[in-house]
Parts: sequence; C-alpha cells; structure tokens
Amino acid sequence: MKKLYFGTNLKMYKNIADTVAYLQKLVENTKDISREDIELFVIPSYTSLQSATEKVDRNYVKLGAQNMCWEEQGQFTGEISPLMLGELGLDLVMIGHSERRHVFGETDFEENKKVICALEHGFTALLCVGETEEEKEFGLSDEVLRTQLKVGFHNVTPEMAKKAWVAYEPVWAIGVNGKPASVEYAEEKHQVIKKCLVELFGEEVGLSIPVLYGGSVNPGNANQLIVQPSVDGLFTGRSAWQADAFNTLIRDAMASAAAAGKK
Ligand code: 13P
Repeated sequence: MKKLYFGTNLKMYKNIADTVAYLQKLVENTKDISREDIELFVIPSYTSLQSATEKVDRNYVKLGAQNMCWEEQGQFTGEISPLMLGELGLDLVMIGHSERRHVFGETDFEENKKVICALEHGFTALLCVGETEEEKEFGLSDEVLRTQLKVGFHNVTPEMAKKAWVAYEPVWAIGVNGKPASVEYAEEKHQVIKKCLVELFGEEVGLSIPVLYGGSVNPGNANQLIVQPSVDGLFTGRSAWQADAFNTLIRDAMASAAAAGKK
C-alpha cells in the first residue's frame, strides 16, 4: 500500500509536560504500525521542542517547528533561526500555515524565502496553502493555490523539492469556526495542486510530493478523505490532540484506505 501521512500541528496549545506526555503516549499507541505504511509527525510549540526531541523515540514520530526565519542569524528579534532548529535535530519545518499568513500577515514571498532556507538546511519543508472563503466565492481558488505554490516554490529545483511536502488547508475549513471541505472539493483541489507540482518539478518529483488535507479533519470525515486518490495524508488539528483519539483516527483511516485498495 502507498505510504499515508498523518500529522498534527499543536499550535499554541500544550505546555512542555503535556507535549511530552502526549508524544510518548502517541508513540506507545502507534508503535505496532509499520513506518513503511505511515509517516507520523507532530509539530509542537517552540518551547516544547527540546524536551520533545530528548524524551520521545524519533523512530516513530517526526518532529517539526511551526515556523522559521529565512536568515541564519542577525537582527531579527523574536525569530528562530534554521541553525537553532538544526541544533535540535528536527525533521521538518512548517511554512505558511494559514494562521501565519492571515493572523500575522506573512506573504508568499516570505514563505518562499523560508522554503528555500529550510530545504537548504536539510529540513523537510511542509508548505501550507489554501484559499480564503472570499477567494472561493469569487471563483479564485485554483488561481490562489497555483500562486501560493508557484511563488512558494520559486527557485526550488526538482532535486530540492524531493524534501518538500504540501498541506492543502482551506482557510474557511480550519479551526473552531471552520467547516470541513467536502471530500469532492478536497479531491478536486488536490488535483489542482498535484498538476501544478508536476508543472513545477516534472512528473516524477511532482507526483512524489505528498499532499495532505487539513481543516476540520475529524473521525466523521477522515475515512472518506483518505480514500480520495489525490489525498496522501491528513493534517489534523483539534481531532488529533488526544493521543488515543489520534491513534483511532489513524487506524480507521488506514483500514479505509486498505479496503478501498488505495495504491
Ligand atoms: P483543525 O483540524 O483544528 O481545523 O486545524 C487544522 C490545522 O490548522 C492544522 O494545521
């Protein structure tokens, strides 16, 4: 079976002790699942990262940062450098999460600098893309996604892109006020994204980049989402923040994918 991706972003939730306890439980719960079949990753708060890297078995879970500066050092008060994240031995860096773009005003051009910097420093770069509700209503979703990808991956070579992942997270679908995308809509937009990745990096690399769906993933829609041909994984917020619930969601989704013969 094709490898499925399951990850969560802990946003500004969970302190150090809670993060470590959550990760240890998640590892314990999911240990028997072959990592040939799944890629499991968690993106905790910055302050929890050091303890998480020390106390959690990284053979079972990849750890990432929620953001990163595009410079190694300098007069960038409040920012975190790729060298600092490298010191922790992190696996991945998330770039351009909807909340970074829409609450903190980050632009596609800034995300591009971060993507390049993350890839040059050996991290997996998880670029998040997604249209707002207004852009969707104006019929601009595909243009917005293509722009976010073309700018976000500008000057990224196919060789570099082998360490890129993409999360499609429609802004209107995320968080407590979000409405999840229908499975048909999600599949349609994943196809737009994959087509754009092929244009940018060629068929082999373009199609090898995992594209995850995020935005109100929950036990009621995860199984339908994961069987869609262009959905390679689920990037989950609230429904993953209890280790037992996330474990169940992962196992149910894997069973659905297997039953659907997902290749
Ligand atoms: P929710 O699943 O809570 O909507 O959050 C999704 C998300 O933002 C993951 O990064």
